[in-house]
Order: sequence, then structure tokens, then C-alpha cells
Amino acid sequence: MAIITTIEELRQQAKRRVPKMFYDYADSGSWTETTYRANQTDLEQIKFRQRVAIDMTNRTTKTNMAGQAASMPVAIAPTGLTGMQIADGEILAAQAAAEFGIPFTLSTMSVCSIEDVAKHSSAPFWFQLYVMRDHEFSKKLVERAKAAECSALVVTLDLQLLGQRHKDIKNGLSTPPKLTLKNIINMATKPAWCLGMMGTRRHHFGNIVGHVDGVSDLSSLSSWVGDQFDLALDWDDIARIRDWWGGKLILKGIMDPEDAKQAQKIGADALVVSNHGGRQLDGAETSIAMLPEVAAAVGDKIDVWMDGGIRSGQDVLKAIALGAKGVMIGRAFLYGLGANGKQGVTDALQIIHKELDYTMAMCGHRDIHNVDRQIIRSCPF
Ligand code: GLV
Repeated sequence: MAIITTIEELRQQAKRRVPKMFYDYADSGSWTETTYRANQTDLEQIKFRQRVAIDMTNRTTKTNMAGQAASMPVAIAPTGLTGMQIADGEILAAQAAAEFGIPFTLSTMSVCSIEDVAKHSSAPFWFQLYVMRDHEFSKKLVERAKAAECSALVVTLDLQLLGQRHKDIKNGLSTPPKLTLKNIINMATKPAWCLGMMGTRRHHFGNIVGHVDGVSDLSSLSSWVGDQFDLALDWDDIARIRDWWGGKLILKGIMDPEDAKQAQKIGADALVVSNHGGRQLDGAETSIAMLPEVAAAVGDKIDVWMDGGIRSGQDVLKAIALGAKGVMIGRAFLYGLGANGKQGVTDALQIIHKELDYTMAMCGHRDIHNVDRQIIRSCPF
């Protein structure tokens, strides 16, 4: 097997191993995909200051995210349909994250359920909530996360409507995949994936199937979002969710200083500057470009994190330098998962950790907590 040294190689391998429908689901943005692409290209524009002859011994990237020790300032982002990148994907990724010592977030739209992941992972994980029109169901999800001893609740605020991803429509995205001729032909080229799926019973939206009555199509993400997600969600609802939960609260999808002030006022422990990986508002500013403004507005009162475009440890360090206390990674871990399951996620985390650690040293630092904007030579925002 080829030696893997970059996230890009994991992406290429995932593309070969995962059925097109699910690979495309991960590797796409909404509409023109301009924001999706720009998340990465804006990170590329930032340049470090190279420093020399500074002691590099005894380095540490250890930190704390929402009260949880983390071996680096990186958490696994919630991603839908993770258990379709590979059989039992959420469990495998949660185990890899636990062993690496970073937080794992389980999406509402996961294949493996909250209870299932709790049973198979050695560390507490975070649960991400989409707010449903049926508030009783949302409340039940929060209670299930509590019963499973999840250590933080991540409420996603930027997906009441689903941004249109053209490929998902054209591919007929669903879980389990419909056995059309086109899908069967494509799946026939992914034998390891098929074998894995035949060996597991986890093929549906595990947090939902069996827990809601009267919904006809539980296989399609877009119809589920359209039928069930709460279009009327507002800050009063978020305050209510905070009270239901009563634990560490992370608000994800903040792209404006005014919204950041609301997140802080409501008492969240952290907020995530995020445009949902360019999957929602196409034409929105990039996450990294908004980070300094949001951090300047509220960064002394609430932990500000970011996601969107992180594909390397250098990217993590740039976000930390621009004011983030942590980042979330979505595609970077999904590619590892699709490429090689739990080991692939571990590979992705090791790649990012080594890049972060070495780059920090070459910028003249030994402790991630001392990194600030001084390590940046030029940055367009
Ligand atoms: C859901 O979270 C998605 O972005 O597809």
C-alpha cells in the first residue's frame, strides 16, 4: 500500500473506494461552490513569518475545548451520513478521535445512533442538534444526548433550509442508496465498501428511524430537512434548548459579529465561525476571512473556533494565529474514513498534528497557547 503523507492523498483514495453518491455528498458545496472553494484558497493566501535560532525543544499542542482536554486544538465536526462513507463510519471515527485525544461530534443526521456510538466509544463525545419543527422531538434528542453522557451540545444555526448541492439531486442521494441500475453499476466497482455494508445493520438515519412517526420518506436528506427542520428557529428557541440541555453549549454557523454577540449573550461556551463548509449560503464570506472580526468582537468573552477549508496543520495554525481557540475538521477526516476506516482517520489526525507541531516550531513557538497574529507575515483580511 502506498505511503500516505497528505490529506489530498486520502481524498483521492476515498474517491476510489466510496460510492459516487456519498463521495460527492462530502466533496461538494452549494450552487456555484464559490464559497466552498474560497474557504481553502483564502487560507492559502496567508503567509507565515519564518523565525530561526529559537529553542524548539519540549513543544506542546495540548489544549482544552469546551472543558475537554484535547491533544491539539482540533475537533471532529458533525457531518451527515458519515456511516455511508464506510460501514459503521461514526463509530470508527469516534474511536479514532478518542484514541487521538480530540473531541468527536456526532451529527443529528448520522447513520449510527447516539446510543450506538456511546456504546462503542471509550470517550464522551459531543452531539450536534438540528432543530426540528416538532419541538418535542428536538427535546427528545437533547434528552437522549444527555442520557448517553455527551459532553457538549453543538447547535447548528445555518441549516434551516438546505443549500442546494446539484450533485446530490442528480445522484438521487439517499440512505440506504436506492438500488437503481446506475447505483448498482457504481457500487459494483466498490467491493470493499459493499462487503462492509453487508456486514452491518446500520444503513438508515439512526437517530431518526424508529423515533418519529408519520414521516413517509426517511431516506432522503433533502426531503427530511424540507419536511422537518424548523424554519422559525430564533434566539428564544436557542435559549430554550440551552435550558433543556444545561451543559456545555457550542453554537455553530456564526458569520457575523452581531450574531456572535447574541451567541455570547445567550451564554454559549463556544461559537464556531462557519459557513457550513460552503454548503449553505453560496457567496458568503469565507470562514477564515470572518474570523478576525468575530474574534475581535467577542473573543475575550467566549471561545471562538472556526471551520471551513482546513486541510492541513498549517491551516490550523493560521486559524489559531487569527484568533481561533480551536478548529473543526469535516472533509479532512471524512476522506481518511472513506479511504481506510478508523486507520484512515488516525492517519488524517497524525498528518495534521505533525504539520501543526512542526510549523509552530518553525514560526518560533513551543506552546500553541502562545501563538498569535505575530506569526503572520501577510494576510489579506
Ligand atoms: C448537512 O449537515 C449537510 O451539510 O449536508
